[in-house]
Amino acid sequence: MTEYLENHRPIYLDHAATTPLDPLVLEKMLPYMSEMYANPSSLYSMGQQSRIAVDNSREKIASILNCRPTEIIFTSGGTESDNTAIKGGSQGLSQQGNHIITSSIEHHAVLNTCYQMQDQGYDTTFIKVGSDGLVNPQDILNAMTDKTVLVSIMYVNNEVGTIQPIKEITKLVKEKADSLNTRVLVHTDAVQAPGYLSLDVEDLGVDLMSLSAHKFYGPKGVGILYKKRRIPFVPLISGGGQESNDRSGTENVPGIIGISVALDLVSSKIDETVSKVEGLQSRLMSGIEERIPKVILNGHRTKRVVNNLNYSFSGIEAEPVLLGLDLSGVYASSGSACSTASLEPSHVLMAMGLNVELARSSLRFTLGANNNEKDVDYAVNSLASVIEQLRSMSSFGR
Ligand SMILES: Cc1ncc(COP(=O)(O)O)c(C=O)c1O
Repeated sequence: MTEYLENHRPIYLDHAATTPLDPLVLEKMLPYMSEMYANPSSLYSMGQQSRIAVDNSREKIASILNCRPTEIIFTSGGTESDNTAIKGGSQGLSQQGNHIITSSIEHHAVLNTCYQMQDQGYDTTFIKVGSDGLVNPQDILNAMTDKTVLVSIMYVNNEVGTIQPIKEITKLVKEKADSLNTRVLVHTDAVQAPGYLSLDVEDLGVDLMSLSAHKFYGPKGVGILYKKRRIPFVPLISGGGQESNDRSGTENVPGIIGISVALDLVSSKIDETVSKVEGLQSRLMSGIEERIPKVILNGHRTKRVVNNLNYSFSGIEAEPVLLGLDLSGVYASSGSACSTASLEPSHVLMAMGLNVELARSSLRFTLGANNNEKDVDYAVNSLASVIEQLRSMSSFGR
């Protein structure tokens, strides 16, 4: 096993935090970071080559999302897409009302945006989830009033991997809005979905959808906001009028090439990836549950994305486990990447009703297409021995 690690270090099980850049993506990006540097708004031929590359990327993405190219807005990542969707969509309907509905387990890119909207006079309902981490669509309907303008529910939770019933939510919300004779926009943060779930916006029925390239083997600092045509909308960033006036700023050409190539690659391999990663997930699941006593799986057992497992390990804190795993060359996470530095227990696990002790003992393992069975076996061995050591040093089980 040690020999295995020497050749394969690190064993990266933190793909929900970020993914390595696919070498094929880098290869396609490189010319646009060197000789093809022209601004796509420039009229001379090199500028037009950049414009064509951006247009082709937009068309490729639109075909994957089953929408029109004009419905794709390039942004700086998931956080900007979420901010733009929530602020832009709500402000677009400000004549109708000031009520936003979201869930209590959203990423902070959504939650903190909603808090900011509250400071500006918006009223936000944070829908509770069950102990399995799922939103009940009926709770959204119960919260809707004739002042509701936007519903934002994530597609896949980044901490526990639960998959929310977006298609059902959208259908029910639209029906209720019709009965109230109002208009309500539905946004989904789909940042954790690419490569595993369908991103067909027509089928999902959403008006707005956020994506981020670095979660699917693309570069950091570039994202997508799908915005359905003709919906009321106020741009977040004003300036020179790029992206049909919806998001100004000189286009990040290499990033745009990168996100389109990366999305194309993961989308074309979706069936293959799901079946491979599902196998690894179940191997990791049985390894952990058979080898380590007193573990609790967080999130629904089956309605979860195939690359995510999140466990609480009774009697210990997650941080020393992470350090022990790091020393063995295994990288995992204790909750979402951005809250790792904070001592607060995960808001997602707390919203699911875990006590502070169990929330603090939770670890997230997120697999990727490049992991294999040996990675999983090595990780299970390392985890079992780190946990056994830590538990034997404490009064656990005595
Ligand atoms: C569900 C979700 N939404 C939004 C974001 C933010 O994306 P970005 O890092 O591209 O700003 C993340 C990243 O962790 C995420 O997991």
